[in-house]
Amino acid sequence: MADITVQISGLSFKTPVMTAAGPMARDGATLLEAAKGGAGGLVAKTVSTKPAEVPKPNIAAVESGRLGSRRGLLNAELWSELPLERWLKDEYPLALKAGLPLIASIGYTPEDVAKIGPLVESAGVSAIEFSTHYVGGHVEIAKALKQCVSIPVFAKLSPQVDVAKVAKTLEPYVDGIVAINTLGPCLRIDVETCRPVLGSDKGYGWMSGAALRPIAMRCVAEIAQAVNLPIIASGGVINGQDAIEFFMAGASAVQVCTAAILEGPAVYGRIATEIHKWLDSHDYPSVESVRGVALPYLKKKRLLRPPVRVDTDRCTLCGLCAKSCAYSALNLDSQAKVLHIDSAACVGCGLCVSLCPEHALSSE
Ligand SMILES: Cc1cc2nc3c(=O)[nH]c(=O)nc-3n(C[C@H](O)[C@H](O)[C@H](O)COP(=O)(O)O)c2cc1C
Repeated sequence: MADITVQISGLSFKTPVMTAAGPMARDGATLLEAAKGGAGGLVAKTVSTKPAEVPKPNIAAVESGRLGSRRGLLNAELWSELPLERWLKDEYPLALKAGLPLIASIGYTPEDVAKIGPLVESAGVSAIEFSTHYVGGHVEIAKALKQCVSIPVFAKLSPQVDVAKVAKTLEPYVDGIVAINTLGPCLRIDVETCRPVLGSDKGYGWMSGAALRPIAMRCVAEIAQAVNLPIIASGGVINGQDAIEFFMAGASAVQVCTAAILEGPAVYGRIATEIHKWLDSHDYPSVESVRGVALPYLKKKRLLRPPVRVDTDRCTLCGLCAKSCAYSALNLDSQAKVLHIDSAACVGCGLCVSLCPEHALSSE
């Protein structure tokens, strides 16, 4: 059985799947629910010196109708609507009853974090994540916080900065990086009402979920190549394979927000189980053994050599590859139950290889 425990900055997590700052971590009770649902670590909703005044509505689906595997959200939720005093007195103490590492998320200015940091440390949290989402100024915030607390400090980066450069400047002052926060601003209009779907200024919101994952993946890989710090990935983790992809890009653990909103707190345990199964079935002994294994392959261009090959034992003749081949190089003969590959027409674009749900196609 693969070992899915992870150690990050001296903290021990029984699984590499944590909550992310957001509505499913909005107070002590929801954090306890997350622990029951199988989270290996708890990250609480961001708190600041004053409670947020949140516009309504503030969460919308990226696409109307059934969300399916393209699950994504726009949000304009801001930070916690609960006062800091309430977090210190009631919410952190309740969440601590789960017996898991508890990470407080705080923001936003150097003055804010210097005030809040020592208070959340005294409340017993295991580490602090600071968010720079609205303000930038990463190094000043990190310095101000690091000077006044003794627990690990993690910086959560937004995708709208040069993440490798920012991570490098932060390296002396933080114990880890969380990558990434939501992307935006973005806009959706309700065609029935002609109004923006969100009630925020200009109707703007920030995007999370599946569509964010490739951006988060690139950010994690760039940070992993730039610094020698643990990375906690955040952005579009919906299943165990997504988490494995982040580990291969250099992350030590993942946070889950959108999938938890859409599926409920059992999501953390489901993803942890899927990670376990994937590691076992691919003979990796631990999360650590898979961390960063893709990084050496990111350094140079690859030249795909046509033609694509099909593993007939794996192919279920679903026809997805043939339907989506822009070059008409793949043709499914349903009657004869054969997938034909026209090697002269195949240009080696690789789309079919990445689409095949059975991993039946290969090109190398
Ligand atoms: C409704 C909502 C509220 C969020 N609130 C916060 C927050 O208070 N602080 C923060 O740092 N990130 C916040 N986030 C960002 C998430 O923590 C996470 O980094 C981001 O959504 C990407 O992960 P995901 O694709 O799993 O949702 C929020 C996201 C959503 C969708």
